[in-house]
Order: sequence, then C-alpha cells, then structure tokens
Amino acid sequence: MLQLSSLSDIRRHSEQLRKQSFKIGFVPTMGALHQGHLSLIKAAKSQNDVVVCSIFVNPTQFNNAEDYRLYPRLPESDAHMLEEAGCDVLFIPSAEEMYQQKPRLTFSFGELEQVMEGAHRPGHFNGVATVVSKLFHLVKPHQAYFGQKDLQQFAIIRQLVDDLSFDLQLVCFPIVREEDGLAMSSRNRRLTAEQRALAPRLYEALQLLKDNLKNKSVAEAKKEAEEFLAAFPEIKLEYLEVVDAQTLQPITGVKSAPQVALCLAAFFGEVRLIDNVLLSEE
Ligand code: PAJ
Repeated sequence: MLQLSSLSDIRRHSEQLRKQSFKIGFVPTMGALHQGHLSLIKAAKSQNDVVVCSIFVNPTQFNNAEDYRLYPRLPESDAHMLEEAGCDVLFIPSAEEMYQQKPRLTFSFGELEQVMEGAHRPGHFNGVATVVSKLFHLVKPHQAYFGQKDLQQFAIIRQLVDDLSFDLQLVCFPIVREEDGLAMSSRNRRLTAEQRALAPRLYEALQLLKDNLKNKSVAEAKKEAEEFLAAFPEIKLEYLEVVDAQTLQPITGVKSAPQVALCLAAFFGEVRLIDNVLLSEE
C-alpha cells in the first residue's frame, strides 16, 4: 500500500491513475478504524480498480476542542488494517498540510443542517463540507463511499455534490454493529467498561421506538423510548427524532414520508455517540 501525506503527491498520483483510466474508489475517514470503515473499503475494492482511503482528524469539524484532542489516533494499526483489507493508497496528511491557511469559505445547507447534528454541533457540517470538497478535488474519485451511521452527513454531502456538480457517484452503506447491537464508532474506544456495557441501550431504544411506531403515534412512541433511556442516569440523551430520511425534517406521522429514519445522540460522560435505524430496515 502506497502512503502519501502531501497534497502535491496525492494530486499527482490521482492524475496518473485517471490518465491510465483506472476507476478510483475513495473512502474518507478520521482513522481509529473498525469493521464499519473496513466494510466501505471492501465495497470500494469490489467496485473499483484502485481504492484510496484518507485518514485525517479534521480540526474544522470539531465544535469541541477536548473531543478533537482526545479523538483516538492509531495510524500504525490503521495502516496495517487497510493493507489487510486490500487498500491501495493511504492519504494521511497533517493538519498543517491540509490547511495551509484557515479556510474562509462557509457553506450553508439550509434546513438540512438546522436539525439534529447541525443544530447541536455549530459549524460541524461546514467543516465536513470543506474537508470533503478538498479531498474530492485531491483524490478525484469516481465513487466515494460513506456510512449510513452518519445519516445527516450523507444527506449534506449529497447536497454538496449536487450543488457543486462534483463528477462522482456517492455510495452509502449500512451501519456495522457489535454483536450486542452497539453501532461501531471510533469514539467507542473512549468509553469506560461501565459505559460500554450500557451503550447497547441506545440501539435498544431505537428498536423499541421502531416497534412502538407500528401501533402508536410518533409522540407516544418517542416518549416511551425517551423514558426507557431516562432509566439510565449515566446516559444523557441529547435528541431522539423521527424524521423524513431524505429531508431530515421531523415528522408527526410515519406515513408522511416515503422513508423514515429514527435518529439519536447521547452522551456517556464526555463521549458523544450517535445512532439511527431506518423504519424499512429488517
Ligand atoms: P469517520 O467517523 O471516521 O467515518 C468515516 C466513514 O465511515 C463515514 O462515512 C461513516 O459514516 C462511516 N462509518 C462510521 N461508523 C460506521 C459503522 N459502524 N458502519 C458503517 N459505516 C460507518 O465521517 C467521518 O469520519 C468524517 O466526518 C469525514 C467524512 C471523514 C470527514 O472528515
């Protein structure tokens, strides 16, 4: 696996790949890789000639300095996992290399970012849109792979690609979970043993909400799921929403959207986790 860390090197390499008519599959990440990330690498591998993965803990998308400082960084074991998974190129720049000056461009995604993650993490999607745009320009992928784990991020990136006519195809893959249902996340490494034991309650709350939506109103079903989580004082629920999976706007009845997503965010101490399920999922 080739490892590159400068903008000029990745740019030159992508240009060469394009000239040779290789189809480039790209998986952007912030590292501390797990099976969720690897599912994207494997999918990219099976659908492209060359797989590029980026690892960059992007400072501009963190609205909390401590979260940025404590974000797990494991470049060596990550490189090893990528190599095993068949990744061809790892792009791993420093923050100074990525941002030679502070970006001034700002993005606005309207109502897409006024809910859930956007509402609770000011500036977050601005940072995501900036770094993803930079990465798309540098890597020049034909296909870019993202996880449904970050449902709102995917909707924002879809809008970005449409609005700026990026010449690539976006692919979204389902959430990979631990055996006990906890959605895999790099931040799970920061949980204490007690918090880790409690963390599957998030997925259980989503399952309960999903079940309740079969015969209860959205308001009633949400209330029960919130009460379920409130029984665990160590879990501080930030939001629990029933939304239209395309527009991400809250809905009051499950029949008012073709695809419905149930989304939540919760703190375990300082560690913030997100999860979601689609109503149509098995
Ligand atoms: P990161 O959190 O490292 O996630 C990288 C990609 O892996 C995202 O598309 C995310 O949705 C996906 N992913 C994470 N956990 C997953 C799981 N359990 N199952 C399936 N896919 C999963 O998302 C980011 O990084 C950053 O915001 C980034 C897009 C790289 C921009 O900095």
